[in-house]
Amino acid sequence: MKTLEDLRAIREKAQRELASRSSAAKYRISVAMGTCGIAAGARNVMSAILDELNKRNVTQAVVTQTGCLGYCDQEPMVQVTGPNNVTITYGKVTPEAARRIVDEHILKDSVVSAYVFKQG
Ligand code: FES
Repeated sequence: MKTLEDLRAIREKAQRELASRSSAAKYRISVAMGTCGIAAGARNVMSAILDELNKRNVTQAVVTQTGCLGYCDQEPMVQVTGPNNVTITYGKVTPEAARRIVDEHILKDSVVSAYVFKQG
């Protein structure tokens, strides 16, 4: 059984790791988790992204969530901001598309044009 002190040490270690990963990250991936995003399947999209990043040991990306982006018909939506601070907004992202975004955009620096809703 872990003591309160153990748990605190684990939490602090995780926070330190997260902070160092965030500052080193080349890409920020943000999943819109507003009500209609969730209704359209944003949770599965988020899971697919996290799973793909883990499977491939990707460390150059951090994942966050955001609220409603105001384009219901484009949900689920994912935004990827790169090192040049340009944000690509993907729309109608399926879990398969999310895995492609990790593979092509994050790992190969190649925007997945088939799902681009907005650029910049
Ligand atoms: S209500 Fe926010 S995107 Fe639909």
